[in-house]
Amino acid sequence: MVLKVIYVFLPILFAVGLLRRFRECQWGHCKSKSSLNGKVFIVTGANSGIGKETVRELARRKARVVMACRDLENAKNAIEDIRRDVSSGELIPMLLDLESLESVRRFSEEVLRDFPKINVLINNAGLSVPMSKCRRTKDGYEIHFGVNHLGHFLLTNLLLPRLKESAPSRIVTVSSMLHERGIIDFDNLSGEKGFVGASQHRNQAYCNSKLANVLFHVELSKRIEGSGVDSFALCPGFVYTNLFRYTNVKWYQYILFLPVALFFMRTPSQGAQTTLHCATSEELEGKSGLFFRNCNLYEPKMKFDSAVASRLWEVSESMAGFCNDRNEAG
Ligand SMILES: NC(=O)c1ccc[n+]([C@@H]2O[C@H](COP(=O)([O-])OP(=O)(O)OC[C@H]3O[C@@H](n4cnc5c(N)ncnc54)[C@H](OP(=O)(O)O)[C@@H]3O)[C@@H](O)[C@H]2O)c1
Ligand SMILES: *[C@@H]1O[C@H](CO)[C@@H](O)[C@H](O)[C@H]1NC(C)=O
Repeated sequence: MVLKVIYVFLPILFAVGLLRRFRECQWGHCKSKSSLNGKVFIVTGANSGIGKETVRELARRKARVVMACRDLENAKNAIEDIRRDVSSGELIPMLLDLESLESVRRFSEEVLRDFPKINVLINNAGLSVPMSKCRRTKDGYEIHFGVNHLGHFLLTNLLLPRLKESAPSRIVTVSSMLHERGIIDFDNLSGEKGFVGASQHRNQAYCNSKLANVLFHVELSKRIEGSGVDSFALCPGFVYTNLFRYTNVKWYQYILFLPVALFFMRTPSQGAQTTLHCATSEELEGKSGLFFRNCNLYEPKMKFDSAVASRLWEVSESMAGFCNDRNEAG
């Protein structure tokens, strides 16, 4: 019996372990290790998953990090956890609820008041809620569009003047490969045509919001060209986080899913590597407009329509009540 275990199970375990190692090598690792002493980073959704591990690594490299979270208690718990193994850097919890444009404005005002310099803004926060819940933001927009795209759209625009003053600086937007399944329908940006297919497995509104993230990045790169601010977008890979907290997963689904997880699912720390690469790698300075995956350049399969990107920008301006001309004039 014992021999059987040794001869059969050990080699299987060994092979599985080897395959997992192989996958992990493919996912890549942020190679930049230089000190970030004196640099200011803002990370949205910093209390959980990829955001929290991004903050941990930035703190290890001595950065000053504003943790923009919608619940300060959760932010403090995350800080406590990070402080258990990293004592360097500065962690500053601040309230930001991307579900409310009012909260985005208040947060931006406080940041502009307290921080004379912003080196990197990381638009990381995001959620995925089953379509059947038909959730909307405090301003009445479809929840994925509102939180994942519109909140970050307004935030970035409000902080952009300070980012320009702090150049060379960066804006990093966490999207997903699921953007390839997204649709931008200007008559249905906020689910005006109703949530058809709400029972479907795929969360269409989530995919749409991740496409909006990429189009936002495409248009932003164009608008800030030559300003010394770089924009990068990325897919973190498939990561074990709290993102699916609103989805009911049954116990047998977990078991069926195990082999997939073993070969495809990253730990949050592994999932933070591409974000860290975009936010800190020296070699990327001046290479604005690129999309990354596995700590490497990724050529998106779809050709982005720049007319759609610029129309989405204009529509987002009016939905968020943000007008750039007015800002420059006043
Ligand atoms: N996990 C994956 O496989 C995967 C794959 C591709 C892309 N991504 C992207 O990665 C990013 C990070 O997600 P994650 O996987 O790390 O998930 P997560 O563990 O759920 O973290 C998401 C973070 O966003 C915050 N957030 C949600 N709604 C917010 C709001 N209204 N205002 C402010 N913050 C809000 C959450 O705060 P609370 O804790 O307070 O809710 C949390 O800190 C997302 O943009 C997601 O789309 C993830
Ligand atoms: C409108 O968008 C929602 C997602 O926000 C989607 O569920 C629905 O299928 C779309 N409706 C049409 C008719 O495309």
